[in-house]
Amino acid sequence: MDQKHNFKPESLMMSYGYKPELSEGAVKPPLFQTSTFVFKNAEEGKNFFEIAYGIREKHQNEELGLIYSRINNPDLEILENRLSLWDQSEDSAVFESGMAAISTTLLEFLKPGDLLLFSTPVYGGTDHFIHDFLKKIGVDFIPFQPGQGKKEIEAIIEQTGKADRLAMIYVETPANPTNALVDIQMCRTIADQYSREDQKVFIAVDNTYMGPLWQHPLSHGADLSLYSATKYIGGHSDLIAGACCGSSAVIRRIKTLRTFLGNMAAPYTGWLMLRSLETLKIRMEQQALNAEKVAAFLKNHPKIEKVYYLGFIEKGDRDYEVYKRQYTSPGAMLSFDVNGGEAEAFRFLNALKLVKLAVSLGSTESLAQHPATMTHVGVDPETRKELAITEKLIRLSIGVENYEDLIYDLSQALDQI
Ligand SMILES: Cc1ncc(COP(=O)(O)O)c(C=O)c1O
Repeated sequence: MDQKHNFKPESLMMSYGYKPELSEGAVKPPLFQTSTFVFKNAEEGKNFFEIAYGIREKHQNEELGLIYSRINNPDLEILENRLSLWDQSEDSAVFESGMAAISTTLLEFLKPGDLLLFSTPVYGGTDHFIHDFLKKIGVDFIPFQPGQGKKEIEAIIEQTGKADRLAMIYVETPANPTNALVDIQMCRTIADQYSREDQKVFIAVDNTYMGPLWQHPLSHGADLSLYSATKYIGGHSDLIAGACCGSSAVIRRIKTLRTFLGNMAAPYTGWLMLRSLETLKIRMEQQALNAEKVAAFLKNHPKIEKVYYLGFIEKGDRDYEVYKRQYTSPGAMLSFDVNGGEAEAFRFLNALKLVKLAVSLGSTESLAQHPATMTHVGVDPETRKELAITEKLIRLSIGVENYEDLIYDLSQALDQI
């Protein structure tokens, strides 16, 4: 690679981390559909295992060689190298699902007796893992809400009586489905305040909603940037995967646990994501452009009460400063309240022709769903109300279709209300 020029991630997605000469000159990384790798000799096998199992540190310039696809595989390694470019992380780890990335991270950095502070709402699967599994193993947890300031959050931590056991702050921002924002830098200040000599308070951010393009949590002080790679990274609604980006030290811990949980992505999933990453930027940019057009159409529609879209945050609004500092685009996720309730929302959803009625997000096709009865049905009704997740709320994930067609479809469906 040319040392004189800093190539942008989108320019490197077709080549970075891959040496064609090692694969018969193939311009694209082949699919390494293999469970195990042949060692040149027994000494090589011994060396690889010593590094993989942490029995000794790597010598200078020594690389971990290929051993077994639960430990490493070229498709996953190239993918991890490329993913790291977007978040400018030292390393990353890919998983067989977003939930695998999230649960492995929480398990690695939390132990019984620790306290976890987390923003609400978090993705339903994460919420369940915290309330059900972490509770079962004796991890204490306490929620906070977007919009709460440093003093309020400190008071929440102190109220638990376990401030000295705070081990992690887990954040999802923008919040799904209302796009409310959490200030990552503020979380860093809080985490540093509660870090002890023997216990750093880690910050993990689920960055799924903005993908690797529009928010870079590590540059705002987070230690870990987590993804459901099923969404923008995969981007075509044809795979389930997850990812985690961070420093070499944190990713080494996460990869070690991944090796023993065995929840790494399969080679084929990795190979598919390598294809997806080549078009990540152009897909996401088109999605954001379409979302802007759709949001403008919805804003003044007589059948709509309110639109939740980052592009509508104005100077003077609560989230303005954080929005300007933390995001490079309003993204492609928006929600809106229809006039009425569940019946009106369902009439709209059932009338859609081009936009598909399905959960998930960040894909090439536009999707619509009803959070109160679908993705967020597991959230306690009182909390749902506090978070503005009501019967009249619809969530849209905007795809790469022609935006005039999207607006036509939304318009004809709104006419059914
Ligand atoms: C914000 C967010 N985080 C995590 C997940 C879980 O990812 P996966 O379904 O890939 O396990 C999802 C899935 O919808 C999500 O929306």
